Amino acid sequence: MNIALLGFGTVGRGFYELLTERPLSLNICAVLARRPLEGLNCMVTSDFYKILNEADADIIVEAMGGLEPAHEYICAALRAKKHVVTANKQLMCAYYDELTALTRENGVSLRCTAAAGGGIPWLSSLARAASVDAIISVSGIMNGTSNYILDAMSRRSMDYAAALSDAQRLGYAEADPTADVCGLDTRRKLVLSTNIAYGVSISESDVPCFGIANITAEDMRFFEGNGLACRLIGHAERHFGTISAAVEPMLFGADAGEARVYECGNMMSLCAAHMGRQSFLGAGAGAYPTGSNVLADCRAIAEGCSAFYTDSFTRAQVDNSRAYQRYYIRKQGCAPVITAPLSVEQAHVMCRVEGFNGFMAAIAE
Ligand code: HSE
Repeated sequence: MNIALLGFGTVGRGFYELLTERPLSLNICAVLARRPLEGLNCMVTSDFYKILNEADADIIVEAMGGLEPAHEYICAALRAKKHVVTANKQLMCAYYDELTALTRENGVSLRCTAAAGGGIPWLSSLARAASVDAIISVSGIMNGTSNYILDAMSRRSMDYAAALSDAQRLGYAEADPTADVCGLDTRRKLVLSTNIAYGVSISESDVPCFGIANITAEDMRFFEGNGLACRLIGHAERHFGTISAAVEPMLFGADAGEARVYECGNMMSLCAAHMGRQSFLGAGAGAYPTGSNVLADCRAIAEGCSAFYTDSFTRAQVDNSRAYQRYYIRKQGCAPVITAPLSVEQAHVMCRVEGFNGFMAAIAE
């Protein structure tokens, strides 16, 4: 099958190198790049429509990132009956209904396994589990940059800014790292996971989100003194027919798997009615892990895998009023408190008021 690659940044280049090392009966016929690229044995152009009309691609791999023009190009590719593989979680979340509808209308495949979990085959495994069992919950560490920062602050006593700058240098962080540390990147991955797990379509803006930007060395000392590790977690659960979902820092005891996820690692878990709990651990960011998942999606399409991860897209609301947890809450200038169980909704309302510059973390039970 012929592949046209859009974008030659961290993920695009990683994918290209992996594919050319190991052709797997897949061939790159064109690359969309803003500037000329030396040494590529295919069409290289900055004109997407030249690729669409002239390159004879079967699969369009979108590794540009951002919303536009990636959205325009993917829609045009699906309408032209090309299969699409993307690592773009922002786009998949923002245009989930439109892109999955276009996929169905045009009888092609849309895969985005690399959009959640970097190199971990999380979305494909989740879809496989959801096709035979009822998913009760999905949760996990879904952002490599924030995990790198929390781990570096804890095990190497690094300061927050230095750890973030390391994560940027290593190519883990988004172009605007606010998306990583404020939890927006985790939220996009959680929304995709929730949609696939439950065959629904929820909105990003309905999922409350509290990131790690306000964490201090004092918070870290408190957690370590109490044998707790802090991780940024996305979690969703079905409760009596409704879905709760949130992104928030969470505190784990030393024997929890999450406490032993280091550097840019991700760890996603599903809990299903009959299968029980399954966890998936690996590199959540970086050129080759992410490029490998893009390549695996292309392989899956070449082998005839189905259109999308689910065939159900029911609009659903998020309801966090029935999910209860205890919280660590530190208001600025005050000693921290451990609360009695609060609903996720109550906790986020308390900590997202104007002027709250402190930190909060749910306590994993
Ligand atoms: N910025 C993302 C992360 C990249 O740190 O996890 C992978 O999605």
